[in-house]
This record gives sequence, C-alpha cells and structure tokens, in this order.
Amino acid sequence: MQSTIIRTQAYVDGQWVSAASGKTLAVTNPATGEHLADVPDMSAEEAAAAVEAADRAFDSWKKTTAKSRAQLLRRWYELIMDNQEALAQLMTAEQGKPLAESRGEVAYGASFAEWFGEEAKRTYGEQIPSPSPTSRLVTIRQPVGVVAAITPWNFPVAMITRKVAPALAAGCTVVLKPAEDTPLCALALMALAEEAGFPAGVINMVTTADPIAVGDTLTSHPLVRKVSFTGSTPVGKHILHQAADTVKKVSLELGGNAPFIVFDDADLDAAVKGVLISKYRNAGQTCVCTNRVYVQRSVMEQFVAKFSELVAALKVGPGDQEGVEIGPLINRKAIERVEQVVSHAVGEGAQLLLGGARSEVGELFYQPTLLGGIDESMAIANQELFGPISTLFVFDDEEEVIERANATPFGLAAYFYSRDIGRCWRVAEGLEYGMVGINECILSNEVAPFGGVKESGTGREGSRHGIEDYLEIKYLCMGGI
Ligand code: SIN
Repeated sequence: MQSTIIRTQAYVDGQWVSAASGKTLAVTNPATGEHLADVPDMSAEEAAAAVEAADRAFDSWKKTTAKSRAQLLRRWYELIMDNQEALAQLMTAEQGKPLAESRGEVAYGASFAEWFGEEAKRTYGEQIPSPSPTSRLVTIRQPVGVVAAITPWNFPVAMITRKVAPALAAGCTVVLKPAEDTPLCALALMALAEEAGFPAGVINMVTTADPIAVGDTLTSHPLVRKVSFTGSTPVGKHILHQAADTVKKVSLELGGNAPFIVFDDADLDAAVKGVLISKYRNAGQTCVCTNRVYVQRSVMEQFVAKFSELVAALKVGPGDQEGVEIGPLINRKAIERVEQVVSHAVGEGAQLLLGGARSEVGELFYQPTLLGGIDESMAIANQELFGPISTLFVFDDEEEVIERANATPFGLAAYFYSRDIGRCWRVAEGLEYGMVGINECILSNEVAPFGGVKESGTGREGSRHGIEDYLEIKYLCMGGI
C-alpha cells in the first residue's frame, strides 16, 4: 500500500522505533488476505519504557495552558480532516468497513479532537461558601497523570481520539496500545499528532502481537494513573482487577446486548430502516449494534416482509467497491464464531429466514442473516453477536418487553420506535441502559455522553463529561484570613 500517512514503526518519546527484538506483526486486508505492512511486535519492557517517557513528559505538559493544548488539538483535528480520504482508504484496507463508513468514522474521530480542544478551556473549579469567616474554600481540577489507552479494531480511528483527545486536553500524557488487527490507522494518527506539534513523550504508541503481556504492563504499572479501555466485557473485568492494586482510575466501554423494540404504534417504515442501519453497520461489529429485535405481535408479519426485503438487498463485498454495504468480518476467528452462533441457534429451533452461511465473495464474508422465532431460552439471545445477524423476538405488551429487554447483564445501548409520547417516556425511563435511541438508530457523536451501565462498563466518553475521568478534583482550604 502506498500512502503518505503510513508508518510502520511505533512512536515512543517523539521517536519512530522498531521492536528491540526486531520482531514484527503482519497487518492484512480482511477482504482479500493481502499483506499490507509489518509493524513492531513490542515487548512488555518496551511498553514500560513508553510509560516512563510519558511520565517524564507529564511534568511539563501538565503546566501548559489550556489554550495552547486547545490549539494543538485543533491542529490535529484539521490534519485528520485534511487526510480524511487517505485515512478512510487505510481504514477500509485494514479493517474492511465500506469506504462511506470509513469516511464517516474519520470525521467522527476528528470531531473528538475538535470538541475536547474546546473543552480544555472549560475545566473550571469552584468556590465553596465557607462555614468559617477566617477560611476560603475552592476546588481546582488537575490532570490525573499518565493514561494508558487500549483500543479496539472496530473503530480504528474514533476509539483512539475519543480517549486520547480528552486526556491531552486535560493535561495528561498517553501511552496507546491499538488492536493487533488495525495498527496502521493508529500509527497514521500518531504521524498527524507529531505534525500537529505535540511535544515528545506526550503521546506514545506501542504495537504488539502479545496484547496480554503489554496490556497487563500498562494496566498495572505504578506510573499509570488512569486506564481507558474499549473492548470485550471479559477483558474489561481483567483490566479492572489489574488496575486495583494501584487503585487507578478506570473507564471501560464494554460489550452490549442492545434490544431494538418496535411497538405497534411505530412508524413501521422508519423502524425497519432503523433496525437495518443499527444492525448491519460495520457488518454488525459495533458494541451498540442491535442485538435483539423485539416486534409487537400485531405488526410482526408486516415487519418481517419489509425488513427481509431490505436485508436481502444489502450488497456484500470488499469495502472499496462502489455500493458495498457489508464488508468482511475482521478475521477468521470472528467468522468461525458467527458460524457457530448461527448453527447453534438453528439447532435450538430458530427459523432461518435469510442468509445463514458464508458469502461466496470471500473467506471472511458472511451473508446478511435473519433468524426468526427466537426467545430468551436460546443461547443466541444472551450473546453479543458481532456479525451481520438479526434475531427476531415477538412480544405482546409494554411492561413485558421492558422486562425482557432488561434481562441481561449488559446495559450499553437500547432503541425503540413508538409514536406515543407517554410510552416514549415510560420506556426510556424503564430501560436499564446508558443510552437509549427513541425513534433514532444512530446515537454516537462527540457532544453526547457515550457509555453503559451494568457489565457494559463505567465512565462516559465524549460530551462535557468525557474529560472528567482525566481530571482530579483538588480541594484547597485557605485559612488565617
Ligand atoms: C463501539 O462499538 O465501541 C463504538 C460505537 C460508536 O462509537 O458508535
């Protein structure tokens, strides 16, 4: 691949470096199997060295003005947008999503640099009326310290900027470990951050083929004061344990099991389109993708007719081809898992309405699939699907569907469609989720708080709340007045 933003070395203390061992990790295109590049396979010791570099840089970075940090973040935002097309091409090559989605993700990712640059200037403290005439009480907000950011492959740009931008805005320094499948977008972001002018050591990035050793170093190192992770719930739980010994601040954005509820008073065409987008975006590989579609009995038949027509028309293919809506799954393990989930569901009595097999397009492509007759006794109802599979559940009334939607350890995103205003409030309040889409299927943007409850995580990213986790409150009590 040729592109001016491609880097094949890691970025530590302002230097582009190879692994000391000389070992590398191959990056491939999931659509074609083509070898794209090799990046350093770094060790736990090299991750620790990156933490030390970030710690040294923290001394001066924390003293910079919010305005100067904002200017650098603004520059990073502009450079990301100037390179939107090159980044999108790179993303489609290493991650597989259709180009239109990649372009959208680059703009979405860039928006966090813009937003948090602006927020840097608003990290206000407070003045507290004192209970004593001789003292004055105030709070100031200070950066937490070195941040370890561990990011997934499904959003190779946006999940990085959603963590790194607020950290830098707050005055923290960062060590980033991107997913093994998508290091090239992450390295391109580092190249643009270097061009923007961030000082050496403020942002560091290690790539590795050994995510457990490197991840454990980052999440247990005493100099790291904050860990931010997006990925699976089991790994999130492990990270929480790892971080406990040194009592780090931890933000976790973990798995979901999103219900999408279609009431009989909904605008059915809007609901059908909503499920389609929410389910099949990124080939179903997002934490907020619809996982369970609940349709009220009286409209089920109509819903299935309309929905299956749209699902059957989805175009599967390499993301760089015109009109493609469903790209490949990320790797062999992912497609094997999806195959196993579907065949198990069919074995348990699910009706295969569409798809249900690999696509002839290529090894990692799976047909858009529709399964009917699902209920909560089946394993598929309790798994995060992470693939282009819709599962249809029938329900009869509002109370019942809220209870069934909540009957999961997860609580990230939920969606429902209804035109009844009273119902909209009741259902929105009753759903135990961090985010609820009401007659809306796309929730994410930089100004709103993204995050879950229960085993879907802790903390919020984006919005004015997204910078909070990178700041400590310090209380100053001035006496003798
Ligand atoms: C995710 O799947 O983790 C993020 C999805 C989003 O930001 O929309």
